[in-house]
Amino acid sequence: MINFSYQNATKIIFGKNTENRVGNETKKFGNKVLLHYGGGSIKKFGLYDRVVESLKSAGLEVLELSNVQPNPRLSLVREGIDLCRKNNIDFILAVGGGSVIDSAKAIGIGVPYEGDVWDFYTGKAKIKSTLPVGVILTIPAAGSESSTGSVITNEDGWYKRGAGSTLMRPVFAIMNPELTYTLPPYQTAAGAADMMAHIFERYFTNEPNVDLTDRLSEATLRTIIKNVPIALENSENYEARAEIMWAGTIAHNGLLGTGRIEDWATHDIEHELSGIYDITHGAGLAILFPAWMKYVYSQDVKRFAQFANRVWNVEIDVNSLERTALEGIEKTKAYFKRIGMPVSLSEANIPSDRFEEMAAKGTENGPLGSFVKLYKEDIVNIFNIAK
Ligand code: NZQ
Ligand code: ZN
Repeated sequence: MINFSYQNATKIIFGKNTENRVGNETKKFGNKVLLHYGGGSIKKFGLYDRVVESLKSAGLEVLELSNVQPNPRLSLVREGIDLCRKNNIDFILAVGGGSVIDSAKAIGIGVPYEGDVWDFYTGKAKIKSTLPVGVILTIPAAGSESSTGSVITNEDGWYKRGAGSTLMRPVFAIMNPELTYTLPPYQTAAGAADMMAHIFERYFTNEPNVDLTDRLSEATLRTIIKNVPIALENSENYEARAEIMWAGTIAHNGLLGTGRIEDWATHDIEHELSGIYDITHGAGLAILFPAWMKYVYSQDVKRFAQFANRVWNVEIDVNSLERTALEGIEKTKAYFKRIGMPVSLSEANIPSDRFEEMAAKGTENGPLGSFVKLYKEDIVNIFNIAK
């Protein structure tokens, strides 16, 4: 186990009707709030009215910025920064999923910074302060509600890049599983694929002695695997929705990565895909992860066999750990297919003519990943497996 320090400042407020506490929670941090949300699902399903009511009855002043798109754009972030500065906003409330939260985090770090906020996403500047950000989560997926990251797409060149800092963890995350009843099945499944991917990125490590986090990861994966089909069958099954929602946070709040060296190559490759083709992040991961696994499993066949056995109940073949490992990868792919995700690029209508370009863009700052370091040609090979 490698050395680590771990502090998670996000207060989790979980359960039925918890969104009605948003006014009082926000009041602890600010007086003038930017209410940030997406394309309208929060209005369609009545959440918007309850949130505004709770904020107003706590005596807060509220300004709004809506229309955050999935794969959130830099131009709206810049608009948000201007709006906050002009109106002396002191708190940002993100109501939505990863896209809204990431956009809110970007606005938060951009307001006190005199340069261009994109500097944080290119590594040119280090994050030193932020406006506080609070969250009401409506889709369990990205884990941004208590993660240290934000991922933004710059329309100028379609670069999708991440920035990270512990300062960016939201101060609170309100999580009511009932708010996820209205999710279309595709979004429920894409969210699940993303959560599973967040665990895979940490699970496949070269660090040998990581028993506790292996077991915690396997338990979280098994919980997702069990409960997603239940929620897809009955979208209003509270218990299944609750398990999935909490698993999404655990998958990406950093706990499962403690003491391990993480990988993240597949996420970086996916960001090239969604940067150019605007595909749903979780769907991109469902396509790429089985291909990545096939490409790298020989790095540690034992670890892949352990994964197959403990997560997918594949019996260990003592004569061929490789067979066990490969069966685990097939089960992963079959599961993604079963829950309605695409498992090949062609299923997502992504052609093969820009593999080189995406691989080159992704490796501009050097190879990706750490379990196995991937260079441009490796990434092209992975795209070819995923074809
Ligand atoms: O915009 P609205 O109308 O709200 O619709 C959204 C959106 O179309 C809809 N939706 C959300 N909650 C709903 C709902 N529809 C019905 N009922 C509800 N309760 O779902 C769609 C997708 O929303 P989005 O926020 O894009 O999804 P997600 O949470 O998967 O976020 C994806 C983004 O997060 C980034 C991804 O790259 C992607 O840009 N990530 C952020 C991370 C982080 N900050 O730590 C880590 C992740 O690996 C990921 O990269
Ligand atoms: Zn992700």
